Amino acid sequence: MGDDLRSQEWYGRPLAGFGHRSWMKRGLPDDAFDGRPMIGIASSWSELTPCNSHVDEIAEHVKRGVWEAGGVPLIFPTTSLGETQIRPTAMLLRNLMSMDVEESIRGNPMDGVVLLGGCDKTTPAQLMGAASVDLPTIMISGGPMLNGHYRGKELGSGTDLIKYTADVRAGDMGMDEFLDLESCMTRSRGSCNTMGTASTMACMSEALGIALPQNGAIPASDSRRLRLAHLTGRRIVEMVREGLIISQVLTRSNFENAIRVLAAIGGSTNAVVHLLAIAGRLGVQLSVDDFDRYSQESPLLVNLKPSGDFLMEDFFYAGGLPAVLENIKDIIDGDAPTVTGQPFSTYADPDAAANADPAVIRTVAKPIRDDSGIAVLRGNLCPGGAVIKPNAATAALMTHRGRAVVFESIEDYHAKVDDPDLDIDETCVMVLKGCGPKGYPGMPEVGNFGLPRKILEKGVRDMVRISDARMSGTAFGTVVLHTAPESAAGGPLAVVKNGDMISLDVPNRSLTLEIDDAEMEKRLKLWVQPESEYTRGYYRLYIDTVLQADQGADFDFLVGKSGPAVTRDAH
Ligand code: FES
Repeated sequence: MGDDLRSQEWYGRPLAGFGHRSWMKRGLPDDAFDGRPMIGIASSWSELTPCNSHVDEIAEHVKRGVWEAGGVPLIFPTTSLGETQIRPTAMLLRNLMSMDVEESIRGNPMDGVVLLGGCDKTTPAQLMGAASVDLPTIMISGGPMLNGHYRGKELGSGTDLIKYTADVRAGDMGMDEFLDLESCMTRSRGSCNTMGTASTMACMSEALGIALPQNGAIPASDSRRLRLAHLTGRRIVEMVREGLIISQVLTRSNFENAIRVLAAIGGSTNAVVHLLAIAGRLGVQLSVDDFDRYSQESPLLVNLKPSGDFLMEDFFYAGGLPAVLENIKDIIDGDAPTVTGQPFSTYADPDAAANADPAVIRTVAKPIRDDSGIAVLRGNLCPGGAVIKPNAATAALMTHRGRAVVFESIEDYHAKVDDPDLDIDETCVMVLKGCGPKGYPGMPEVGNFGLPRKILEKGVRDMVRISDARMSGTAFGTVVLHTAPESAAGGPLAVVKNGDMISLDVPNRSLTLEIDDAEMEKRLKLWVQPESEYTRGYYRLYIDTVLQADQGADFDFLVGKSGPAVTRDAH
């Protein structure tokens, strides 16, 4: 073994390899270069990504497993995206991070790669980048935080921030109490403890078979996370020896399974754009309508915030994803491939399901609700589709007709929402424009924009809201998201006016602006694209090349099957 290793293109040539070997000999023995698998560990560690600030320890345990299995581990840093820190939105930089990951893997002498992510965008960015190189690849997540506690209540990241912010705005909670609570929400290392986007994507990694079983739920602070890291390190070396590359693991069946699991766990709507983008990099045909189709096959089984009561720590103790998979084993494709080399059916655990806490993980016979997952809406307001998460919405608003109250941008919304003279009541439909991929730019998580104070003061906590934005995975509400095409691309959302009537009919999957075709055509003809203030740099590249939400919001030039894994050598 050894001659056919990619890293031997660098190290295996006696003369030309001098420069490659010599500079790496900073403690590595000579035989490290004699055909042992070189394993890159793509670390998204950063102190500015608080959810990933502990992954350096996980990387050290991955290294132990790699050494033990006979490989040579090499940690390399990548762009890191802290969801709560980066402006204007981490999503703007997801594609940039994916390009960094892709070219770092392609340009360096590695035979296999371990992706080490956590906070929301870091997982999809790493998978997108690695998919574009197509080496043996395995993911391990940083794991979720422990439950937050405050005055006898458990606190869920993001979800309870949104809830208590509304209470403060409505005058039901004082600022002192609110600020006290702030220190109690983030109790430990790790990513958000709700079934937000980070936990969803960690569970998606497990459901896709690109991570080992239990990757989704083991808390960041639990020593079993480090054991999983060790096993991940061992396994990537075996994958290199077996020649098991990422495109052999991530097939269409794996994505279908992931969508079914997304419904069962009540996962984030952000998984739609991320899974579409990852599939796009692999040349796997996946459409936004697949989310509606496969979601319907699985009921909601997991009772976690934002749509339920519990948190990720509880989910782990209750059995985690292996227990869920056992419950839906008749729905999933058990033959789908995985990084273990075993079929996906081996990820289900009958013991975990038999001992699962039924308050947290239900059975198919007694689900939390029969309809779950993502509903995809169609209609003259969203020819490219729009999504809504029924289990995070108000049942009574699933069918609703109301008068549009329009905000032309997020700034326009902030300026007007609490104006006592704003002509709005709780039956209206709030419409927010300018928050899609090109418009903001970066498609921020503002789709659950708050209700006007005068409506909150009446005790109302939900209204129908429509936008081209995304929603935080920790958020909730009757919010229609990802409306495509977006307003900044001249989609019909751009021409909605105050006073128009809008009908939402989730059971029939429709979203209608009640104007006739001639009026729609007239308005679209009169629409003028606003001048962009972004004329240079990454923002310009992003606006010019980003695809719409129904295509994963990837760059148009990054979609498609992988490029070559070996680059030219000038030496
Ligand atoms: Fe990082 Fe939620 S903010 S995972």
